Amino acid sequence: MKIKTANFVISNTDVDKCPNEPLPEYAFIGRSNVGKSSLINMLTERKSLAKTSGRPGKTQLINHFKINANWFLVDLPGYGYARTSKKDKRTFQKYITNYFLKREQLLCAFILVDIRHEPQKIDLEFMEWMGENGIPFSIIFTKADKLKPKVIERQVGEYIQKLLDGMWEEAPPYFITSSTHGAGRDEVLNYIDTINLG
Ligand code: GTP
Ligand code: MG
Repeated sequence: MKIKTANFVISNTDVDKCPNEPLPEYAFIGRSNVGKSSLINMLTERKSLAKTSGRPGKTQLINHFKINANWFLVDLPGYGYARTSKKDKRTFQKYITNYFLKREQLLCAFILVDIRHEPQKIDLEFMEWMGENGIPFSIIFTKADKLKPKVIERQVGEYIQKLLDGMWEEAPPYFITSSTHGAGRDEVLNYIDTINLG
């Protein structure tokens, strides 16, 4: 898929104020600093469409980007940032939970995990919650440039096995990406294309 236009539309914390257009939508979620905003820039080939930072907690709102005038990419704040206050965590949980439960246009969520890390409880629990609520998701392994191909294969294999040993009867679709090298870009965009056409 060719990205002809990619425009920021609106940021907010209220799902009811998200764009009121019945267009297909794809959201990026995962731990703080995992590379959600960087991935959106990589996919759209726009250097600073979504704001990124080396420090966790950069994205704080639900950010809608309109792509090719007919679908949305959504950048979300990260979860699991240890320095967030309890009150902020609750607020965050509430509006992100609302977003996922109420947003009918959402066709697939991409849950990002750092390919270097072992499966983390917070991510596995989030996947479980998505499953329980019938919200379709795929996994995106990020920062693949940090590991050698053999290690990537082992990490991904172990991750998927952990899901199959847990509550999942089959593995969700997954992608291996690097926002610095552009790896996985075609695969993710083709996947979105297939769903859009579906
Ligand atoms: P929050 O908005 O804080 O939740 O973070 P985020 O998930 O949006 O992460 P962001 O895209 O801001 O990236 C966090 C850090 O990881 C930045 O320093 C990025 O440069 C770096 N990063 C993101 N993707 C990659 C990648 O594919 N490879 C490498 N090497 N670094 C990456
Ligand atoms: Mg971000």
